[in-house]
Amino acid sequence: MTKRLAILLLALVPGLALAAGGAPLLESGASIGNPASLQRGAAMFMSYCSGCHSLGYQRLSRAAADLGIPEDVAMDKLNFTGAKFGDHIKASMRPADGEKWFGKAPPDLSLIARSKPGGPDWLYTFLKSFYADESRPSGWNNTVLPGASMPHVLWELQGIQRPVYAAGHEGHIERLELATPGKLSPQEYDAAIRDLVNFLTYVGEPAAMQRTSLGVWVILYLAAFTFLAWLLKKEYWRDVH
Ligand code: HEC
Repeated sequence: MTKRLAILLLALVPGLALAAGGAPLLESGASIGNPASLQRGAAMFMSYCSGCHSLGYQRLSRAAADLGIPEDVAMDKLNFTGAKFGDHIKASMRPADGEKWFGKAPPDLSLIARSKPGGPDWLYTFLKSFYADESRPSGWNNTVLPGASMPHVLWELQGIQRPVYAAGHEGHIERLELATPGKLSPQEYDAAIRDLVNFLTYVGEPAAMQRTSLGVWVILYLAAFTFLAWLLKKEYWRDVH
């Protein structure tokens, strides 16, 4: 029992996950339990990401229903492509153009919060790890995805980071330093991308939302059943004593 508990605890310890490049991942604190955060994250995705990235498995209508956004608000604030309410969320840009412009078509992000080692933490760290790099065609690079062709689309919010190199280790980036502040403070930027990561975590498994609310009922049922079993046991043993 204690061994099983130890394994469970180990599985729950975050921060053990490492990015593919070996850079430690930051803890995203991602959770799908906060509807206001999910709504803000959806708005951020639509404003800053859906120009290039699709969510091919996600219908706007389903997201709106799950996140408690009325249809007219969703169509007004979250739909920039003239898509129908029931359509899947498509990128405004055609994939072929993406390939032409960035050398690589921006991938669909439906499963991005699940497909990387570290999951939401990977995504969170990625969105914090862009830095100015004049040697790249886009002018940006990323320590979590070195050589990424995605530009830092949130730079106005975060500001511009520059690399600080480790002394004596040519070309090894020790950390990133905020050289030019953005519109948001570092804490506000972290909160904003946490909203975005929460939303993409929801998109990665929309059914988890129902499972979470179902879980409460399962626990209540088990508790009630345990109580009944205890009453029954008392009843059976009354005559024995
Ligand atoms: C201007 C177009 C553009 C916008 C806007 C954009 N991206 Fe990207 N994104 C790309 C391209 C191009 C790639 C492919 C980069 C590569 O692999 O080199 C990419 C890759 C990614 C990846 C890595 C995917 C993988 O499988 O490795 C993630 C995660 C990502 N984008 C998230 C976002 C998020 C979140 C937003 C909104 C804040 C966003 N992107 C906005 C162009 C864009």
